[in-house]
Amino acid sequence: MGKFISFPSLLFIFFFILSIISSSSSSSSSSCPIDLSYVETFPWDTSLCREPVHKDCCQTLLSLFGIGTAQHLRDTLNFQLPDANSSSSCLSNFQDRLSAVSVNSSLVPQCFQNSTQFVADPKGCAGIITIQDWFEKAGPTTARLNDSCKGDVTGLTRCSSCLDAGLKATTQLLGIDPNGTKCFHFAVLYAAGIANELGPKDLSTASCMLALPLSVTETGKSSDNLSRKSILKILFGSLGAVIGVLLAVVLIITYRRRDKRRRQNAHHEEFVDSFRATVLPNSGAKWFRLSELERATNGFSQRNLIGQGAYGIVYKGTLSDGTLVAVKQVVNLDSQGDEEFCNEVEIISKIRHRNLLSLRGCCVTSDDTKGRRRYLVYDFMSNGSLSDNLSNSWRSNTNNGKTPLTWPQRKSIILDVAKGLAYLHYGVKPAIYHRDIKGTNILLDSEMKAKVADFGLAKQIGDEGQSHLTTRVAGTYGYLAPEYALYGQLTEKSDVYSFGIVILEIMSGKKALETTNPSVVLITDWAWTALKSGKVEEVFEESIRREGPKGVMERFVRVGILCSHVMVAFRPTISEALRMLEGDIDIPRLPDRPLPLSHESFSSSVGFNSFTSGSQTSRPSSSTRSAF
Ligand SMILES: *[C@@H]1O[C@H](CO)[C@@H](O)[C@H](O)[C@H]1NC(C)=O
Ligand SMILES: *[C@@H]1O[C@H](CO)[C@@H](O)[C@H](O)[C@H]1NC(C)=O
Ligand SMILES: *[C@@H]1O[C@H](CO)[C@@H](O)[C@H](O)[C@H]1NC(C)=O
Ligand SMILES: *[C@@H]1O[C@H](CO)[C@@H](O)[C@H](O)[C@H]1NC(C)=O
Ligand SMILES: *[C@@H]1O[C@H](CO)[C@@H](O)[C@H](O)[C@H]1NC(C)=O
Ligand SMILES: *[C@@H]1O[C@H](CO)[C@@H](O)[C@H](O)[C@H]1NC(C)=O
Repeated sequence: MGKFISFPSLLFIFFFILSIISSSSSSSSSSCPIDLSYVETFPWDTSLCREPVHKDCCQTLLSLFGIGTAQHLRDTLNFQLPDANSSSSCLSNFQDRLSAVSVNSSLVPQCFQNSTQFVADPKGCAGIITIQDWFEKAGPTTARLNDSCKGDVTGLTRCSSCLDAGLKATTQLLGIDPNGTKCFHFAVLYAAGIANELGPKDLSTASCMLALPLSVTETGKSSDNLSRKSILKILFGSLGAVIGVLLAVVLIITYRRRDKRRRQNAHHEEFVDSFRATVLPNSGAKWFRLSELERATNGFSQRNLIGQGAYGIVYKGTLSDGTLVAVKQVVNLDSQGDEEFCNEVEIISKIRHRNLLSLRGCCVTSDDTKGRRRYLVYDFMSNGSLSDNLSNSWRSNTNNGKTPLTWPQRKSIILDVAKGLAYLHYGVKPAIYHRDIKGTNILLDSEMKAKVADFGLAKQIGDEGQSHLTTRVAGTYGYLAPEYALYGQLTEKSDVYSFGIVILEIMSGKKALETTNPSVVLITDWAWTALKSGKVEEVFEESIRREGPKGVMERFVRVGILCSHVMVAFRPTISEALRMLEGDIDIPRLPDRPLPLSHESFSSSVGFNSFTSGSQTSRPSSSTRSAF
């Protein structure tokens, strides 16, 4: 089974494409409404995308392309490209430009998994297509963006305040359209393209709002280098562009074919066999027969159903030896479902830690009568999920038989989750980022010990560059770190963000994103406002207010706020957070945050500048870089 197309056919494709390009290159390049020439002149850090390709390369390319989209918004007042044709022509133009600066253009199809992501689509975010739609939907949050994101946004404090305004606008939009996956992206395009009068091609704008890494020598933009570059361009530019496009198209075709073949090859039997052979033997987990699971769950009866989510249906079951288990049926059986299933089994079968839910076994059916089914079998957690135990104060049906958690229970749950996460980040090599830490993924056993569950979204972080990069944003809004929501930039700090939100939920019994009020409120902002005004006890849920030393409870709230700071640079690592919670190290002074949207000084939209009392004046460009 040849992995690659044979050389003669490659040659054929080459000339075939050559003829297509020579006949249509002028029309295809003219249909991209974005002028991408900045790719060659803007001082972005090209070294990240040269061999060896750095893990931040994809995010860098997305940010770089973002300059063009933001400029497009500025020029045409449209958030996205008009149609798929213009989008693909922009991407191929983008590839040419990258080739001209010696960046392998095949990175584009790798990083931009779906070229339609740049095409106007009312489902992207609350039906927004033009700037007019934005003004209608984003409402007063626009004024905040106008204010916080104007002028030179160099420095952590200024950038953080702009970012925060972007998050506010996003929150507002998600209140209108909870499924709007592009809302944060639009907020950034608005900030860089409209709110900031300097525009997306300004260095500080691109570096803060689009999180574009700049080249180290950016300060001394040498005209010498520029002119040398233009001479080189004149000499080799056109030749390079043609070769680049050819190479790119050939690579895309090869890539697509290989991908298709790979998918076909992931034929069921093969999949099952390789699985049986490789995954389970040394993991302590066992293979179940479907009949065993049917017996255990009364034929998957409705009465045994204990949970249902986007990734699966969970049944309670009793094995023949009497042990209680949770049987999760994986629902997406398309190729992605298979992938996620493999991923989950592979990852969790390697993990053993008392604060992580371990796998008891799994079951894969292949017979045609019952269809293809996949099951995962876990220990049964008798006290359900953390959300079940916190729901008292935010659901009307409070009589689900649960008493509110006590402060010592809450404290130990928070520490358990921190330990589980610290193990994922530091205890296994390569590290695992969970990516979907939230209340429903934290389970409680009979002794109220917490275990982190659901690694369906976890990805193992290899050293080989691209594999863990994703533009498909998974996870849950409200818990999602802003940089991850926007760029799929996945770091350990994204988990830390979600963990911070969970701490605040546990302390307060409130939801991550409170949408019941007319205005949508982020839990971090609410907690920060209370803490800053000296009323930290308002954050503690009523039932625990009189328990425990207030100082310790306040420490937990502070760590929660710090972990869920919008700026990656301010968040601790999970092991630092754990030591802060345990009181082993001091909590740094909380970085100043802008006032929440609901604050009166904002609604009058006059006294807005009053908050800049913070003392963050340093400007480490390496940390602003990780801004979004
Ligand atoms: C896109 O291009 C194809 C062929 O190049 C053409 O048939 C189609 O009509 C174009 N679609 C739009 C919306 O321009
Ligand atoms: C570009 O990258 C692909 C795989 O990522 C590789 O096969 C190809 O050789 C690279 N091309 C160049 C010119 O380095
Ligand atoms: C691209 O994404 C859209 C939705 O965002 C989806 O409908 C479409 O099928 C995707 N296309 C490919 C090729 O994955
Ligand atoms: C924000 O700025 C834009 C562009 O300068 C302007 O058109 C818009 O009216 C402003 N909106 C508010 C609410 O200030
Ligand atoms: C969001 O998506 C879910 C399912 O994916 C659907 O049930 C729900 O109606 C959608 N909500 C809106 C506001 O479109
Ligand atoms: C000019 O280009 C050379 C390599 O081409 C590089 O080493 C040098 O840092 C560049 N100087 C500036 C100021 O960009």
